[in-house]
Amino acid sequence: MTVGVLGAGTMGSGIVQVAAQNGHDVILVDLNEHILGKSKEQLAKIMNRLVEKGRVTADDAQQTQERITYSQDIHDFKDCGIIIEAIVENLDIKSKVFAQLEQITGDNCILASNTSSLSIASIGASLENPEKIVGVHFFNPAPLMPLVEIIPAVQTSENTLNSAKSLIDGWGKVTVVCKDTPGFIVNRVARPFYGEALRIYEEGVADFATIDWAMTAIGGFRMGPFTLMDYIGNDVNYTVTETVFKAFYYDPRYKPSFTQKRHSEAGYFGRKSGRGYFDYSEGATRPEPNEDQALGKEILERILVMLINEAVDAVFLNIGSKEAIDLAMTKGVNYPKGLLSWADEIGLENVLSKLEAMFHEYGEDRYRPSPLMRRMVAKGEKFFA
Ligand code: NAI
Repeated sequence: MTVGVLGAGTMGSGIVQVAAQNGHDVILVDLNEHILGKSKEQLAKIMNRLVEKGRVTADDAQQTQERITYSQDIHDFKDCGIIIEAIVENLDIKSKVFAQLEQITGDNCILASNTSSLSIASIGASLENPEKIVGVHFFNPAPLMPLVEIIPAVQTSENTLNSAKSLIDGWGKVTVVCKDTPGFIVNRVARPFYGEALRIYEEGVADFATIDWAMTAIGGFRMGPFTLMDYIGNDVNYTVTETVFKAFYYDPRYKPSFTQKRHSEAGYFGRKSGRGYFDYSEGATRPEPNEDQALGKEILERILVMLINEAVDAVFLNIGSKEAIDLAMTKGVNYPKGLLSWADEIGLENVLSKLEAMFHEYGEDRYRPSPLMRRMVAKGEKFFA
């Protein structure tokens, strides 16, 4: 089956590599000729590196590249079995493009979007046969991150969902099916990793370096929240937070932070601008964390119970199965453990009592425990027996 990818930016280029390495003929379309050229060059470099490391043979590398057709003409998609769209995150533009894709392609072509923040239903609304729409949300970098969230919209047919899922499973990816709600699984459940860390800083409990140290050295996370926000870009991360907050009708649990807004306004985006929460200029040194174990454990516990609460609430609201939610966080954002398994380990009753203590202390809705947590604690239940 020929796979079409629309958009040759960061995500589109990664998805093309995955499909071509799995033996598909791929057509990559972008409006911008220069970006198409860059995408091709970049892939050549990546494949050379894989050959040098002995991960693929020189023949395989060459064949992978030969399977890809680079084009500026969307009509070249006419014989594709699936098209994965990865263009600019704008509903008007995506809607126009999807209406056009439907006219060009055959009846059985699946039309998939890699959107991170728009609803799949809203994109599907532009189609005459919206049962062909589905969300396939890859993580950056797509060739390296195993997770793909598969999102059926209310209009999506069983057949579209199953075909998209089995195709991407066949690429060796870990797929999780999730509801068409803001942030899907990962970008919803991960909010407190940033939000609660920022809140702890704002209250003056600890500085950036200390919070990052607690989450990595004690919590086992690969990157601390501030290092990660600097890596993602504070402008990008702030926009996602604000979008999720609005999309949840201003639920205080997702409230953005002034600290991040100010950093973003100041142009302190992170690595890409040379300065974020930390300084990335040449010769700059990192501030030393305060390695006080009791403080570190308190920071970790506070962020972790908020993350667990989000994961439990996602199960409560059927955003995904408990297995899907644990897989999503370990395979999409490299968490050291699934949050629900972690809750079982700590004891859900301990998580609940910490949340209740914060809820009483602050009197803020932000700290309300999920009803499912209360219900399970009352019955003495665990997520995984
Ligand atoms: P990007 O800005 O790197 O690439 C977008 C590409 O689309 C550009 O090359 C642009 O020339 C092209 N384009 C724009 N309008 C077009 C049109 N009408 N027809 C053909 N090509 C067009 O963007 P990126 O980061 O790759 O994101 C793409 C999509 O993937 C967005 O929906 C984004 O929300 C989503 N996404 C991004 C992730 C990330 O970490 N960057 C992660 C997961 C999803």
